[in-house]
Amino acid sequence: MSDRIHTLSGYLHEYQKSVAQPEEFWARIADSFHWRKRWDKVLKWNFDGPDVKWFLNGKLNITENIFERYLFTIGDRPAIIWEANDPNEAGRTLTYRELYHEVCRFANALKSKGIGKGDKVIIYMPMVPEAAIAMLACARIGAVHSVVFAGFSSNALADRVNDCEAKAILTSDGNFRGAKKIDVKSVVDQALEKSSVETVIVYQRTNQEVTMVEGRDYWWHDVVANESSESPAEEMDSEDMLFILYTSGSTGKPKGVVHTTGGYMVYSKYSFENVFQYSPGDVYWCTADIGWITGHSYIVYGPLLAGATTLMFEGVPTFPDCGRFWAVVEKYKVNQFYTAPTAIRALQAYGTTEIEKYDLSSLKVLGSVGEPINEEAWHWYHTHIGKNKCPIVDTWWQTETGGIMVSPIAGITPTKPAYATLPLPGVQLCIVDPEGNELTGNSVEGNLCIKFPWPSMIRTTYGDHDRCKQTYFSTYKGMYFTGDGVKRDHDGYYRILGRVDDVINVSGHRMGTAEVENAINEHPKVIESAVVGYPHDVKGQGIYAYVICDLTNRTEDNLINEIKEMVSKIIGPIAKPDKIQIVPGLPKTRSGKIMRRILRKVAENSLDNMGDTSTLLDPDVVNKIIEGRQ
Ligand code: PRX
Repeated sequence: MSDRIHTLSGYLHEYQKSVAQPEEFWARIADSFHWRKRWDKVLKWNFDGPDVKWFLNGKLNITENIFERYLFTIGDRPAIIWEANDPNEAGRTLTYRELYHEVCRFANALKSKGIGKGDKVIIYMPMVPEAAIAMLACARIGAVHSVVFAGFSSNALADRVNDCEAKAILTSDGNFRGAKKIDVKSVVDQALEKSSVETVIVYQRTNQEVTMVEGRDYWWHDVVANESSESPAEEMDSEDMLFILYTSGSTGKPKGVVHTTGGYMVYSKYSFENVFQYSPGDVYWCTADIGWITGHSYIVYGPLLAGATTLMFEGVPTFPDCGRFWAVVEKYKVNQFYTAPTAIRALQAYGTTEIEKYDLSSLKVLGSVGEPINEEAWHWYHTHIGKNKCPIVDTWWQTETGGIMVSPIAGITPTKPAYATLPLPGVQLCIVDPEGNELTGNSVEGNLCIKFPWPSMIRTTYGDHDRCKQTYFSTYKGMYFTGDGVKRDHDGYYRILGRVDDVINVSGHRMGTAEVENAINEHPKVIESAVVGYPHDVKGQGIYAYVICDLTNRTEDNLINEIKEMVSKIIGPIAKPDKIQIVPGLPKTRSGKIMRRILRKVAENSLDNMGDTSTLLDPDVVNKIIEGRQ
């Protein structure tokens, strides 16, 4: 493993090389992969288009870099270990060879349904190995997968199905989550009422009753029954689309972030091996859902490209009790454990009794992702889970970056509580002031940009390239703008301060305030609404909605409940506002712009310094809002 960083000086050396000679640097890393045809040129780019291409004219299939690459050497090593929601249900282990045959069988099944290269396939599935098999089978035949988190509502699913013009949906009958059994297929049926999806393949998980539409819906076990366990991989261009993943932005409509094949492959494996310092034989566990980018890059692609054993967990941290994570760590002797601050904070609240019951001595590395981790949670994680011997890798990245951008390299570069610390090789960060001037030197704070391409970066937003340009490449000329605020301290370490745009991060789930407002506004009694985030002890941020309503024939309480249900129905339970305040008006400027700064201050209860309110159309509305604060 020549691409592995082993020492701090090795990191510094690699980092310098990656900046001084990026093409040579990435060509060396990419050379360790299997290409059917090597690339002609490493990189061609401009951020104005934007137009970024890596490994131009390289031909490959990402799954050949998992299967053909490893079958003869580590074919019998566990690729996926699966732990069911119910601790009494047997787990499953698929070796690289078994996974390969399952992927081939399902790839053939997809082909037999007329799905091929370039077709879009939505995956709306629970956390079962078949979800990973589905992703890899798509990649095998060159179909483009778009995984939609199975907690999204039928409306949210329908939007995504229609936006990418999906030809097929892969789903399940139901989903076990903690003590609950959740309908999945019926959500798909509703979403498909207004779509032209030709094929639905249903994995049987809960054995619940579902409706199957003749000629459209098929059971997974039926479609694979007679398929061959070999399936030749489709030859893909380096820049062919690998997947689309929808994410929220500051406007109401989620956007389809497009990732392509070659660069994503190179970066996901490289970052996985280095950040987590994975060694052969280790058991690595990331608790994310495959519906998010973390699940794509660090449950499926990164680990499998590295020949690692990746653990997949169907359940939730608190079922059957709050010791579940630690029971699973003990059961499988997990070595690297990667989770979200919201889960850490939630478990912190239960104390340490449930932790002390389990042997966590296998742990070598702890990871954090999705939102800023506060110092208190960092120390708790370090002391009670890591027993003061496991480095914490606080990994900062985004759906758009495809892979980890800023993070300690476990055990090699220093950690600092609440800091994502240093950029990985190849990542050229830049802090800018509001005018876009670069702030050089240490002890500075501003907006985080990236000034040079990296292999796994977003290529476009599906079907709307201009949106990609406007969102990421127009705020500051010649730079990718992350939407995050950041501080570089006196030692040159980076601390992410959170979003500076109208995006909120609730339990590590990213949401546009406009998206939630649109859902609230669907209620017939709602006249106007404004949504902001506020600090929440467990979720990081909670959702606070200010709503102007027509209260005729309604009480406030029942209207508030109806609005919450409306949001749950339109987006999904994760977007349900924590607090709804019915207000007589919103603080608007004379030009009609809502002053969210004021609404944020009220939601946070920092009422002493409201700033200048004299430019408001009706300054008195602020006092009324303060009086009615929830
Ligand atoms: O605000 C940052 C926050 O999550 C955003 C990206 O969200 P998403 O695309 O859903 O991807 C989440 C998983 C990679 C970022 O803009 N974020 C992510 N990781 C961190 C973080 N904030 C602080 N520290 C982190 N480690």
